[in-house]
Amino acid sequence: MHASRKGSDGSDVLVIGGGIIGLVTAWRAARRGLRTAVADPDPGGGAAQVAAGMLAAVTELHYGEETLLGLNLASAQRYPAFAAELAEESSQDIGFRACGTLAVALDADDRAHLRELHALQHRCGLESEWLTGRECRRLEPMLAPGVRGGLRVDGDHQVDPRRLAAALLTACERAGVVFHRATVAHLTVVRDRACGAVLDDGAALPADQVVLAAGSFSGRLDGVPAEVLPPVRPVKGQVLRLTVPRPYAPFLTRTVRAVVRGSHVYLVPRTNGELVVGATSEELGWDTTVTAGGVYELLRDAHELVPGITELPLTETRAGLRPGSPDNAPLLGPTALPGLHLATGHYRNGVLLTPVTGDAMAAVLTTGELPEVARPFSPRRFSPVPSPVPSPVSSLAREEQPA
Ligand code: GLY
Repeated sequence: MHASRKGSDGSDVLVIGGGIIGLVTAWRAARRGLRTAVADPDPGGGAAQVAAGMLAAVTELHYGEETLLGLNLASAQRYPAFAAELAEESSQDIGFRACGTLAVALDADDRAHLRELHALQHRCGLESEWLTGRECRRLEPMLAPGVRGGLRVDGDHQVDPRRLAAALLTACERAGVVFHRATVAHLTVVRDRACGAVLDDGAALPADQVVLAAGSFSGRLDGVPAEVLPPVRPVKGQVLRLTVPRPYAPFLTRTVRAVVRGSHVYLVPRTNGELVVGATSEELGWDTTVTAGGVYELLRDAHELVPGITELPLTETRAGLRPGSPDNAPLLGPTALPGLHLATGHYRNGVLLTPVTGDAMAAVLTTGELPEVARPFSPRRFSPVPSPVPSPVSSLAREEQPA
């Protein structure tokens, strides 16, 4: 473990950003004995308040993302033990549900797309089973009669991100993490080393190591030298919440999803009757407006899959920002600026990657080394100086990626 170089007013680790990635980093660091602080005006808020919580390593596989798949699967495998440990330390259940997923096709184009995904999953050694439309409806009777076939993926589960965020917050507090409920004005760099941050009220937070985990805002923190500023951008997702009235008639038993006219739509049923319908994918900067068009498209596509949803009360509409990176994969670990680490850029996989991110960041903060599974995700792959770290995704493969 790094010995602290700070006085009693500083921390070993300052995490900038209290979303689920910042919180899991802080929790894991504190559990390893590091004096840890988090700076965020609203810890536990952010994208986790919007996300559906699919753990979709297999159904969200894309061409050329096999290295990312390795990280996704490593995190998915950790989820049961992670959920149990977090429940123990926070006295809260995070709604981890081993429910499986059914990805369905509504027309011949969708079916061709799913067939390609099935072949890719097969090549990657993943478990998924092709079903006819009738077999899909036998599993999920609320599906539209027009469903032409589907992929049954019993390993893609779900968690409730709001409960995950709340549990991480409590676990952090119980582990002694100090919270500064304020906005960070800028990173502090002294003699070419990150050594803390300053809040917008002028308060200085000295720290031996700093982790920038501010989601889509990570790319615009003042004071971060341009060459280490993460290339992260906001990708807006609008999400709806419907409620199955009590007593709950069986509506859906597992996550149901499809690609309709090139857009992803998914329905994630919770045991408490909540049905989450997501999500748009929009490159509009830091805009989180819920639009009539976004709600219309989600309801239209979800209705084509499961016509009965129009009977349900629409109880919430929200938009959040995914932290997108140039290769859709996260940036984890040390930057070229000594003392500054990144844990950002998780894009569509933030909830899924929470356990492995916490473990990887705690390891690098205590030993200086990223674990093997996280090494391809070093931020140095984007540094201007050529780096020996290979990109997790080749540009050729990205071009071939289906919508
Ligand atoms: N992983 C689901 C989404 O980002 O919409």
